[in-house]
Amino acid sequence: MKSKIILLTIVLFITNVTHSFGQTKIDSEEIADKMQWFADAKLGIFIHTGIYAVNGITESWSFFNKRISHDDYMKQLNGFTMSKYDAAAWADLIKASGARYAVITTKHHDGVAMYNTQMNDLSSLKATPAAKDIIKPFYNELRQRDIKCGAYFSLLDWSHDNYPGFLRDSGRYEIKDDWERWYRYRDFFQGQIKELLAGYNPDLWWFDGDWELSAERWEAEKIRQMILTHNPNAIINGRLQGYGDYATPEQNFPVVRPKHNWWELCMTTNNSWGFQFKDQNWKTPYEVITIFADVISNGGNLLLDIGPKEDGTFPPEQINILKELGQWNKKHSEAIFNSLPGLPPGHFYGPTTLSKDSTNIYLFLAGNPQNQIVVRGLFDNIENVSIVGSDISLEWKIVGKISWSLVPGLVYIQVPEKYQDQYMTVIKIKLKDKVHLYRGEGGLDI
Ligand code: GLC
Repeated sequence: MKSKIILLTIVLFITNVTHSFGQTKIDSEEIADKMQWFADAKLGIFIHTGIYAVNGITESWSFFNKRISHDDYMKQLNGFTMSKYDAAAWADLIKASGARYAVITTKHHDGVAMYNTQMNDLSSLKATPAAKDIIKPFYNELRQRDIKCGAYFSLLDWSHDNYPGFLRDSGRYEIKDDWERWYRYRDFFQGQIKELLAGYNPDLWWFDGDWELSAERWEAEKIRQMILTHNPNAIINGRLQGYGDYATPEQNFPVVRPKHNWWELCMTTNNSWGFQFKDQNWKTPYEVITIFADVISNGGNLLLDIGPKEDGTFPPEQINILKELGQWNKKHSEAIFNSLPGLPPGHFYGPTTLSKDSTNIYLFLAGNPQNQIVVRGLFDNIENVSIVGSDISLEWKIVGKISWSLVPGLVYIQVPEKYQDQYMTVIKIKLKDKVHLYRGEGGLDI
């Protein structure tokens, strides 16, 4: 039995991972305009709020993997108070991090809606002492701060008795054996999507759980149409069986620059999406900042996750990470937001970005280099080198330029230690014109 569960978990894990880069059927040119704010935003904050914070156990998966019975899992409903929930404070924290959008769980795989659903009674409003809609006030506060609102929504619902993967008593059923039952579920979950559209109008839809059924079963194309008819600018993540706009690698950092035009790494601040008091494996601000720099250098966004406790407050470690990241973002804002992906590999050992007009190169320095840094293959039209977030200009030296060769020399820059940032110093190379790179193998092949 145990080995079966492990096998199933592995299979699901693999489907999940391979799926997370799932192919999209969507033509990127057609959506380029609506994707612009997303491409400029770079940072989003993911919030996993749900009853799983009561016991501090894994969101939904804990009963799926039989670590707890479904009944006991659902007892957490009684402990979900949100007694200190302050939507304005949440939005302030997100603003302070520098993020330009937030994505919150409107309903996870456990089926407990965090918004005011009329489709059933399983919601924070009707089934928990919190007795409130978590989403509405949060979106109001976000919008007042000019932060885009994203809705995480699980297509599958392991608590709904008409869902074929329903996990309690009656067990699973095959759609082909009971179409009527499936249609009841289909109308239920699509009804919830309609409610969210009409009452909350998310700027971004973050679907999840699509891997259990096909695009045809979910009616993925229809869902996409439904959303875009209501709000043509809405962005849809890549977990809608091919009908999303962008890829969503999860936790695993892509080593090679993804080919997708738009992608977003979703990542936890410790090892858990929701609040788990036992999980003290916090990433440090330095780790988060260096990962973030790598992500934007490779043309992606970071969706950094936090998970509130059942009372609606966040662990101090998460607050600290967001604030430190926010300070760093503020200081280096011009190198981060509205930037373009950086130089291709080989020119600089570290993350880079470009200004939109490609006349500025930003170099992100991991650690504190004791010695000079070097940029290779840059045709020399440097106007100035400076430290971002300061008015300090730096000397640079061209090394190894041969008079008879067109191959550019190496640009060496010394960054005095006293000017270095505690996390990542960012250097700006201001060019006289657009960046022009030498991509050859050296010698005379130019
Ligand atoms: C996965 C998990 C889920 C988590 C999500 C976040 O698909 O099923 O628990 O919420 O990823 O990316």
